[in-house]
Amino acid sequence: MKAIAISLLLMFPFSFIAQDCPILPHPLVYRTIPGEIQMLESLSLDFNSLPPNLIEQFKSTIALYHDVPLIDVKSKPLLIFKQAINVPLDSYSINVNEQIIITYSSSKACYYAFHSLMQLLKQNNEGYFIQKCFINDFPKFQWRGLHLDVSRHFFTVDEVKKYIDLMSIYKLNMFHWHLTDDQGWRIEIKKYPKLTEIGAWRDSTVNEHYTTTPRTYTKQRYGGFYTQEEIKEVVAYAAEKYITIVPEIEMPGHSRAALAAYPQYSCTGQQQNVPGLWGVFDDIFCAKEESILFLQDVLSEVIPLFPGTYIHVGGDEAPKTRWNKCEKCQSVIKEQKLKDEHELQSYFIQRMDTYLMKQGKKLIGWDEILEGGLSPNAAVMSWRGFEGGIEAARLGHDVVMSPGSHCYFDHYQGKGSDEPLAIGGFTNVEKVFNFNPIHSTMTRNEAAYVLGGQANLWTEYIQDFNKLMYMTYPRAIALSEALWCTEKTTYDVFEQSVIKYHFPLLKKLGVNFSQTILKPKITFKRTPKGVSLKIASNSATEVFKLNQDDEFIGTADFNIERVKKTVPIRYQFVSNETGIDRTIVVTKNPCLGVPINYITKPSDRYNSGDLTLVDGQFGARPWKGHEWIGFDTSVVVIEIDLLKKQKIDSLQISFLNDENSWIHLPVAIEFENSKTNVGFGITQYPCFVNEKQVVFIGKKVQKFRITIKTLDKIPLGMPGEGNQPWLFIDEISIKNK
Ligand code: ACM
Ligand code: ZN
Repeated sequence: MKAIAISLLLMFPFSFIAQDCPILPHPLVYRTIPGEIQMLESLSLDFNSLPPNLIEQFKSTIALYHDVPLIDVKSKPLLIFKQAINVPLDSYSINVNEQIIITYSSSKACYYAFHSLMQLLKQNNEGYFIQKCFINDFPKFQWRGLHLDVSRHFFTVDEVKKYIDLMSIYKLNMFHWHLTDDQGWRIEIKKYPKLTEIGAWRDSTVNEHYTTTPRTYTKQRYGGFYTQEEIKEVVAYAAEKYITIVPEIEMPGHSRAALAAYPQYSCTGQQQNVPGLWGVFDDIFCAKEESILFLQDVLSEVIPLFPGTYIHVGGDEAPKTRWNKCEKCQSVIKEQKLKDEHELQSYFIQRMDTYLMKQGKKLIGWDEILEGGLSPNAAVMSWRGFEGGIEAARLGHDVVMSPGSHCYFDHYQGKGSDEPLAIGGFTNVEKVFNFNPIHSTMTRNEAAYVLGGQANLWTEYIQDFNKLMYMTYPRAIALSEALWCTEKTTYDVFEQSVIKYHFPLLKKLGVNFSQTILKPKITFKRTPKGVSLKIASNSATEVFKLNQDDEFIGTADFNIERVKKTVPIRYQFVSNETGIDRTIVVTKNPCLGVPINYITKPSDRYNSGDLTLVDGQFGARPWKGHEWIGFDTSVVVIEIDLLKKQKIDSLQISFLNDENSWIHLPVAIEFENSKTNVGFGITQYPCFVNEKQVVFIGKKVQKFRITIKTLDKIPLGMPGEGNQPWLFIDEISIKNK
């Protein structure tokens, strides 16, 4: 190996945004040179030119992609390797000309280069060939993570390895293994065998969406766990692919499986089962000394299995219901001179932080660990938006951004009714592509604490590996693009590369990826007179039938004008080519497409644009994120301009009531008419609020303001008690006969 000291960045100060590049995530520089290298039946290199472990890794990598042997050739091999110094971390270059020269900064970079090379390799009738090109590349973020919840549904060692294989193809490097939760404890702990004898098994699992009433259950024993030997095997497997595993042992909440095995570590000591229902449970680890020592004991067996720096201790969604009433918890509060139960949670996490530091590990937890004071050495994984991450960075702590708005792959990725059941929310591929872990409000100094980002795969509604793949791909490719690329292409360029190069690759690998991005896109836009509904096919020849009658090809626009009377009209699009069968009902009314002024801004997590409220379509149940506008404040003010003065009979505002998801109906609505179009005057105070709330108006109106009030806090005894409830609205319409 010859070390050459060059700065590839200095040589190529400008990046070349690739228009048609088969490698994803896109490399920083990709320049094609006319011509191709035609390969014979093998890929040759001198095996002595690299450390033996890399040769082994290349052999397993090539087998993922192609049916081409890697052969050892001393004289004039096709592949040449050179090590570079003074180049960015994990950087590599590939020069494909007469030979293929790979220059790399580290073994990891060399491995990444090899994956890129595999994605360049193409096959035609005469065999394999490679487009001549020059590539220079390195990652933007050091934490490019994918998570997997194996508690709600269990995935075997082989399935986890396959998950890791796919991560390696897309240069994702942190695997967050969510090993424990309420519905199953999945890691063998030798000192506490009941954790897996009892905690790894549940007797039933709820059917359908857990908000569906009446709830029904499949009454079948379900579970599984990994032995410590299996864990070691997976850790070693991942390490060969330069993937670090971050294990998560949840505490103090999401601990019902552990407490089913060892109820003495709860507050009440009562024996309870491993639940077969999803959600957040009140019974959590007690904050007494015995529970803390028990968990430290558990960690003492976890630590040696995972050579990475970080141990995740959860910390999210831990109701304080039991702690409020528990003598032991209250006496810890007194002894430690803590203010409240939030400080008690902070104390609990600090005890783990100190313990982990002593063992040379670093604690990471969900953003709730900020409440009651952040432990001195803790890193924060921000999931309830970017705010927690921003605050942690301000305090000088490392941060991994994983906001629900962009990184929750248990959300829906398509708007069609054919999408399989998901938890709710809407996070399509484009949204993931647009993820930037550095929030626009962060200073340079704060941004330096952002290690990167991560997407999470919670598996309440992901029962098997095929569905896991459906929910993960291609969104994980978009995640990688967001975290790897210093310079991003446009979404359209990215989408075309996914469809052209990576759908065939995923197909070849037998991955059950989602093809939702191939489906025609249906979009609504405002027009001066109402809205337009556009259907745009990816194919220029796709033939649609509209309402079983009219036919049109490819793409079409429909203008829908607002009218005085309230009338629903129906559009059914059917196409055999992409199998689309979508029915859209638009309720024409005087609100259709009118301007909306949000005095209160919706949450980024549930804001698909203000047109959503007046597009003539009502949010459906079970709810999907894109259909509803979500607010997380106790007062919501919205102004609407009907553009001309007109008599209206009544206003209808639709709310979502899903208390299990912390979404509550409001408690009051005020309607204010603006006689002059400047000020507003209060005219109505309905107090009892329905899901479809009708406010009688019966007068001439142009501009009006609606003020909606919610509870400040979710009442005691309800899921999420003590937190601000969500308010979900869709649609605002006028009912005129
Ligand atoms: C989480 O989604 N509860 C971290
Ligand atoms: Zn307690």
